[in-house]
Amino acid sequence: MPFFGVAVETGMRAGVSTNSQPKENNFMRAALSISRIAGFAAAAFLICSVAQARSKAEARGEYLTKRVAMCVQCHSPRDDDGKLIESELFQGAPIPLQTLPSGWAIRAPRISNFPEGWSRQEFVHFLQTGVRPDGTHPRRPMPPFRMNRQDASAIAAYLDSLKYPGAE
Ligand code: HEC
Repeated sequence: MPFFGVAVETGMRAGVSTNSQPKENNFMRAALSISRIAGFAAAAFLICSVAQARSKAEARGEYLTKRVAMCVQCHSPRDDDGKLIESELFQGAPIPLQTLPSGWAIRAPRISNFPEGWSRQEFVHFLQTGVRPDGTHPRRPMPPFRMNRQDASAIAAYLDSLKYPGAE
């Protein structure tokens, strides 16, 4: 580390020129605290960039669930006017059709914070393969998604970030 080398050398010279031990010690202390501050700044920077990376994934997950894969349209309850209830998004809802083709599910379950008992990894795997952790496939109209890992992980990050009253 050239900076530190120069700093030490200058410190030595300062110490030698005045021939006083305490001055050199003071200098070393100053140099050390500077390197401590630099270390702290580096750690703070690292923490901030990790936090930012996470919120980027969450933002992409929100975009995918609301604008692309349309999860929000089936998995969220609606008010009497048929509008999505913003405070209950992804909490599960009946499929809003009068008559359903045979074999279709009548309800889309809650998927915020993942379905009951699913880990994040199992959820990501499900969006990549269409297969539930127990090996079964959901019925229509749930689309059989085959997402790439990045998109599936972004959706998992976003749904996991939703905090509803009563959720863990
Ligand atoms: C067209 C409506 C529709 C869309 C769009 C949709 N789903 Fe579903 N989803 C359903 C229905 C209905 C079920 C229940 C299937 C069943 O009970 O067999 C379901 C089941 C699931 C399950 C399984 C839950 C469990 O407990 O077994 C998960 C997880 C899920 N959906 C996540 C998503 C995600 C994430 C998206 C968007 C990327 C999405 N769904 C988009 C209708 C939909």
